[in-house]
Amino acid sequence: MEELINKDIQIAETIPSEYYVDRDIFENIKNKIVNMWHFSAHEDQLSENNIVPIRHSKELMGEAIQLTREKVIKSLSNVCTHRGMIINNEPSNSKTMRCNYHGRTFDLSGNFKNMPKFEEVKNFPRGSDDLIDFSTVRWKGLIFTSTKKTKLPSWIKVLEDRIGWMRIEDFTHDTNYYKKYDVKANWALYVDNYLEGFHIPYVHSDLNEILSYEDYETEIFEGGVLQIGIAKEGENAFQIPENSKDFGKRIAAYYFWIFPGLMLNFYPWGLSVNLVIPISVDRTKIIYQRYIDNPSLIEEGAGGDLDKVEKEDRNIVEAVQIGMSSSSYIRGRYSPSMEKGVHHFHRILTNI
Ligand code: FES
Ligand SMILES: [Fe+2]
Repeated sequence: MEELINKDIQIAETIPSEYYVDRDIFENIKNKIVNMWHFSAHEDQLSENNIVPIRHSKELMGEAIQLTREKVIKSLSNVCTHRGMIINNEPSNSKTMRCNYHGRTFDLSGNFKNMPKFEEVKNFPRGSDDLIDFSTVRWKGLIFTSTKKTKLPSWIKVLEDRIGWMRIEDFTHDTNYYKKYDVKANWALYVDNYLEGFHIPYVHSDLNEILSYEDYETEIFEGGVLQIGIAKEGENAFQIPENSKDFGKRIAAYYFWIFPGLMLNFYPWGLSVNLVIPISVDRTKIIYQRYIDNPSLIEEGAGGDLDKVEKEDRNIVEAVQIGMSSSSYIRGRYSPSMEKGVHHFHRILTNI
């Protein structure tokens, strides 16, 4: 069968507009992506607290999930096995967890410990009285969770090979910074837009002063895309070690996108994690959190005024959403030099 998005970008057509406006297509895709690997937190968030509910987990993974840290870090269900109450709403530090509804307790591995007034209950407790322990993967301080027992993500090796030299595990969570944006557009339009630097000179005048448009690089890999922004003369860049294949380049930003909606943006000041959360066919929530390496560089360079760039992107994708419901637009074509990240995403999306 001919593929919807041709492998050859020179002849391929973009995703049909129905992908961005059809409720059934949206639901079908959303059901598939909820149980993939998703970002939960950075380990620094578990340094003072050993129980940390993941605020975005319900909308992104379809489950209320909490991280717990004992000997290992676990992603546990945050739903009480008695009558379904949410156990923890705030980070805390404790050896046990107690549900505030009727007092059932669990240990930090999710094992049922105690329940008042249950002495007469027969065949109790059972395995199903423990909290579900979801899959967890850690890489250099970043914690990923999947609600399905699934193989380790291949993109970890890509990150390791490329930026394994960064001391990401030592970055500190900026607790005062948690930004949420509501976008009136389909989540895939937000991702499309992120995956090309093509629009930078047209949409982001300030960013365009910092990045060298002609040197912008895009690489694809299984499950993701890496874009590299090269700094113009005099702008902030990474100090790249000799053992990196990027040694000698003046890199202002590494933009990693991992399917479906994880954006790991590394700047000389640290890491901005952007999560793209599909809410409905034409509503998307974006969450920004940040983890800091070098605080003195934070307002500078390509990772400086992220709010302004975000607003510029939002205006664009909301306008494109209107375009997607027009009877006069169905599909377009790709620029082979500028849109190979978008092409790669569309091939993943239409083959899941
Ligand atoms: S719902 Fe948790 S103890 Fe009843
Ligand atoms: Fe943009």
